[in-house]
Amino acid sequence: MPLDGGGATPWGSVDELQRAFRYHGYIADRGLATAIHLAVALDRPLFLEGEAGVGKTEVGNVLAGALQTQLIRLQCYEGIGVAQAMYDWNYLRQFLAVRASEASDRNVALDDLFSPEFLVERPLLKALRSEPAAVLLIDEIDRADDEFEAFLLEILSDHAMTIPEIGTIKAENPPVVVLTSNRTREVHDALKRRCLYHVIKYPDVDTEIQIVRLRVPEATEQLARDVARAVAGLRGLSLAKPPGIAEALDWTSALTFLGVPKLDPDVARGTIGAVVKHEEDLEVAMNLLAEVTSTDE
Ligand SMILES: Nc1ncnc2c1ncn2[C@@H]1O[C@H](COP(=O)(O)OP(=O)(O)O)[C@@H](O)[C@H]1O
Ligand SMILES: [Mg+2]
Repeated sequence: MPLDGGGATPWGSVDELQRAFRYHGYIADRGLATAIHLAVALDRPLFLEGEAGVGKTEVGNVLAGALQTQLIRLQCYEGIGVAQAMYDWNYLRQFLAVRASEASDRNVALDDLFSPEFLVERPLLKALRSEPAAVLLIDEIDRADDEFEAFLLEILSDHAMTIPEIGTIKAENPPVVVLTSNRTREVHDALKRRCLYHVIKYPDVDTEIQIVRLRVPEATEQLARDVARAVAGLRGLSLAKPPGIAEALDWTSALTFLGVPKLDPDVARGTIGAVVKHEEDLEVAMNLLAEVTSTDE
């Protein structure tokens, strides 16, 4: 339902959005589904924070699928800047244009070299120019240097980008924007202020069972339950790298592939590499798994 001054959503309600997400393989709890619904309807960027592996990036993928539009992803990293994220100049074409003008004795003006013809689109510019509107995923913003956030402000508040040599390019079909952060550092308030903010937590055991069954339908119900419980137990330890949902899914797939109907200590020990991936975590994880898998009914 289009709202006043907002974007159009194909969902009339939060329930419908939850159903659409489930159809695309994603279980969104009510809080997350409400945040996504509002972000799309009110045309606000959605800022998702949470541990690695709780399902932040996947929201971008699934949202693009549910909106039936393309996903444009910008993976952030240390040192990322305008030339990687926004636009760059096609130096080879500029060089050739200069050579051609020399050969023909016609001088090429500097302005001509810094015109749209010589512009190379990077993900942010591409998202502003996309027709129809795209989903723009700015993934792991906390990995970028904090100065990079300043470049995003104009895009997030005005759906526009100013290129000094050309002027301001404003989106005709503003993208739906999802930003994610693993919270390795705090992101500036100036950026958060423009967004709707939502924290994704690890799912509770019942929700994780649903996720596992949705994503690995060939797994038995017992196995899905055992894995969800074991993974929840592992997250309660202070591991260097607690298992995310991806690890729960990998582990379930591995166990299913081996034809294992339920977890027991031997099986857990033999397959632990699917779920615990730091050597210093192995011993404490094994001890816990021996406990939770042998006390299962
Ligand atoms: N709520 C969910 N429903 C279904 N699958 C999920 C859910 N959350 C996470 N996943 C799956 O778990 C994996 C990790 O999710 P991801 O989005 O990459 O995590 P993050 O970006 O938070 O590190 C992906 O394969 C994703 O499909
Ligand atoms: Mg991610």
